Amino acid sequence: MTRIYFNDVVTRDGFQIEPYFIPTEDKIKLIDGLSECGFAKIEVTSFTSPKAIPMLRDAEEVMGKIKRVPGVEYTVLVPNLRGAERALESRADELNLVMSTSETHNLANLRMTREKSFAGLAEVIRYVDGRAPINVSLSTCFGCPMEGEVPQSVVEEFAQRFVDLGVRGLTICDTTGMANPKQVTSMAQSLQDKFPQTELTMHFHNTRGMGLANVLAAVQANIVRFDGSLGGLGGCPYAPGASGNISSEDAIHMLDAMGYDTGINIPKLLVLARELPQIVGHAVPGQVAKAGRTCDLHPAPEYINELK
Ligand code: COA
Ligand code: ZN
Repeated sequence: MTRIYFNDVVTRDGFQIEPYFIPTEDKIKLIDGLSECGFAKIEVTSFTSPKAIPMLRDAEEVMGKIKRVPGVEYTVLVPNLRGAERALESRADELNLVMSTSETHNLANLRMTREKSFAGLAEVIRYVDGRAPINVSLSTCFGCPMEGEVPQSVVEEFAQRFVDLGVRGLTICDTTGMANPKQVTSMAQSLQDKFPQTELTMHFHNTRGMGLANVLAAVQANIVRFDGSLGGLGGCPYAPGASGNISSEDAIHMLDAMGYDTGINIPKLLVLARELPQIVGHAVPGQVAKAGRTCDLHPAPEYINELK
């Protein structure tokens, strides 16, 4: 049975676009719940500027108060050197550096050119110097909402430059749900051929309803690592039209039904997904929490007994 490794990003990518501040205690409780579900990784928060992402201004407190379960990696998003210092002080298990493969989105989101971001992140990698593993999330790899097409060659070029700096993993992000399954197959095959030693993760958003189709294309191309967000919340506040990540529970339910080993306790995960609307104050897009699993059957109506 193929093992699939899931990273839940609800308290980072999921919450960063929510309009009202989510209390620190609610974040901690949710992360502690996710830790009990069997995730390989949880992206707890981000060490970005609190002015840019006010929702995550409590990053230190959250990292300090969560219960760390052995076997779960607690990762954090880091945009610059200041973020890396804060992440190491908070004993993050991994630093997830971020930059965009689209110049326009990088300028909008990180307020600098891609080259400046790359140079800054290279400095971060030298500064960290092996004290924590490094993953790099490359945004807008399947298209930019402002520029349009991002050539696969540009993604491969940035991937190569970070691999040359010795990073452990790369996350290929479809920031605003522009990827289609054919494109995913091509990207997955090419990156695995070029970087067989690098842990590759796919990060999809369901903005145009292609999220699970893209997961399917990726697993069929031998990708085993995925980001997902509980309830399907999420989106980058600096990418116009951004909306939710693929729902972790929907993707995990699908892969489990197909016979993949996700390592996740799905009933426990669904309990958390069903509590989420109360935390954020609105309905969430995830489907399986509403419908139940395919094995959660309904009683048949009484009248069929008379028809037998
Ligand atoms: N943590 C805390 N504060 C930080 C910081 C960090 N990692 N990086 C910068 N700051 C603070 C600076 O201290 C400065 O504060 P001051 O105004 O009180 O002096 C302020 O932010 C501006 O610093 P500057 O270096 O000029 O950064 P900037 O304004 O060019 O912003 C980023 C650059 C990357 C820090 C900022 O755009 C950012 O955090 N973006 C978030 C991107 C993101 O997470 N998007 C969603 C996920 S894809
Ligand atoms: Zn995202």
